Amino acid sequence: MPESVIDLRSDTVTRPTPAMRAAIEAAEVGDDVFGEDPTVNQLQEKVAALLGKEAALFVPSGTMSNQICVKAHTQPGDEMLCEAACHIYVNEAGAPAALSGVTCRTIEGDYGILDLTQLEDKVRPANDHQVRTRLVALENTHNRGGGRVYPLEKIAAISALARRHGLIMHLDGARLWNALVATGTLAAEWARHFDSVSVCFSKGLGAPIGSALAGSREFITRAKRIRKMLGGGMRQAGMAAAGALFALENHVDRLAEDHRHAQIIAQAVADTPGLLLDPPEVETNLVFFEVDPGLGSSRDVAAILKERGLLVQLPGARTVRACLHLDVSAPQAERAAEIIRHALRQAVPAR
Ligand SMILES: Cc1ncc(COP(=O)(O)O)c(C=O)c1O
Repeated sequence: MPESVIDLRSDTVTRPTPAMRAAIEAAEVGDDVFGEDPTVNQLQEKVAALLGKEAALFVPSGTMSNQICVKAHTQPGDEMLCEAACHIYVNEAGAPAALSGVTCRTIEGDYGILDLTQLEDKVRPANDHQVRTRLVALENTHNRGGGRVYPLEKIAAISALARRHGLIMHLDGARLWNALVATGTLAAEWARHFDSVSVCFSKGLGAPIGSALAGSREFITRAKRIRKMLGGGMRQAGMAAAGALFALENHVDRLAEDHRHAQIIAQAVADTPGLLLDPPEVETNLVFFEVDPGLGSSRDVAAILKERGLLVQLPGARTVRACLHLDVSAPQAERAAEIIRHALRQAVPAR
């Protein structure tokens, strides 16, 4: 990819910085399937402490992390309540059904955010005929909801309902770091409402590989067996864990820069006829917008931007996503905003 290209497709496109590469090179390693990799152990202890849980487990990806949790919490035939556009249901290749035999009862949120009132009548009664409601999965920040932060009080209310009914709570916190930087609320404050939490290091934090899940010690013992079953037991995994540790220690606070850069892009979108911010408020590092039919499709818009050196993602026929991350500097964010303003203004047909 030429240096001049600004890649806003995803926060997963970052490459490890020289300092992160040095930390990876210096990592002490061992066989993690034997539990002997000191860097993995250090990372797991740090994640557990940050999330206020007894233990944590390093895994290759956010998808594996979420799906290990679904499997560990359920029996085949169980039902999971989740938001209609959540990653765990839409973007993980049908894994709840394929790997755990779990059905997903989806509920449409307000840009990904569910309210207690939407869940109150969704818990099925104990009855031999009915599917067993077992798990509630929430996502914070919500990717397809435009990077929205889950209001803590909504999570607390849903969690209280779940506990009253003996349901298990799981958090897909792939971008929980963005939520905590946006609000100042500590990771453990979010996590205490959940039985399991999955976090990613390979998104905004800029590590090349890896996620972790956290929960009770007993839960992590079961999760470790499932990780093995899915082929996620890695040997000298400290090479990857070192990048994750470096990212946790050095790249969390700087997410605020990505959020500032997202505001720069959001302003350019708001200034451009034919584009509509959706959601209208940008809270973290994701900027979603809709393309007016007068401008063509999202594919047409992406092609115009690409010609000028700006890459974006296309979650829908009219929807564009721009994602800010570690490899986008402030001048690049400004340039991306200029490209959006000028390229697309020229493209709007005179009315
Ligand atoms: C909200 C959310 N959860 C989970 C994942 C899965 O992560 P991975 O790509 O590491 O499997 C992603 C990936 O973008 C995501 O956005």
